Amino acid sequence: LAIAAVIPAAGVGKRMQVAVPKQYLPLNGKTILEHSVQRISQHPLVAALWLALDKTDPYFAGTPLVNGALQRVDGGSERVHSVLNALQLIDATAYPWVLVHDAARPLVRQADITNLINGCLQAGYGGILASPVRDTMKRGQATAGRNLVAETVEREQLWHALTPQFFPTQQLREAIAQALAAGVTITDEASAMEWAGQPVLLVEGQADNIKITRPADLTLAAYFFEQQHL
Ligand code: CTP
Ligand code: MG
Repeated sequence: LAIAAVIPAAGVGKRMQVAVPKQYLPLNGKTILEHSVQRISQHPLVAALWLALDKTDPYFAGTPLVNGALQRVDGGSERVHSVLNALQLIDATAYPWVLVHDAARPLVRQADITNLINGCLQAGYGGILASPVRDTMKRGQATAGRNLVAETVEREQLWHALTPQFFPTQQLREAIAQALAAGVTITDEASAMEWAGQPVLLVEGQADNIKITRPADLTLAAYFFEQQHL
């Protein structure tokens, strides 16, 4: 099976509060983007990779990505548009399944990617890496200018959605396009598939597969990186 991969890397990293988009920040001697691209393209089932970059991205040219087969595609205004731009270039006959992974998740493990792919192929439908929430969860409600607890939400049913997310290429492309046309907010691939009424498998992944979002995440990522390589 030849799997296509899409890595959306066209964000500006606003919450990181640095001038450089966070995917170009260094982590253990390489950029975050290089780690993410390497970990995805190294997987033996991944045969081709589409990388969504900002049209005016001045940083990519200076990024020494070693893995050859990589197609660049223009990013869009939001993550979902970057992903859809890439999906529109993929031949779904040659690549019936697609793996979508955030550029900002440089710590994903090969074993998790394999578990996700195998779990989905076995089930016959798509799925996502996810990790169970640990804290007691509350639904909040703004009341008289304060945040009050409306209720405690049953934790057993709650998961953090991670990436990669793995879906049939054609189905995902159609689900995203139709959800966007209907004005639905799409924050990950699964939400488009859910909206389309498709089943989505939850495959438990390692919690160290964090998304670099805020400054403190860099310190955490460096620690996790070291732990993975001990
Ligand atoms: N992304 C993208 N195109 C966009 C926005 C985001 O390809 N228009 C990518 C980011 O580069 C990142 C992934 O989607 O790899 C996850 O998004 P997020 O963590 O939100 O990154 P940013 O949007 O860059 O960060 P922020 O929301 O803090 O600005
Ligand atoms: Mg964002």
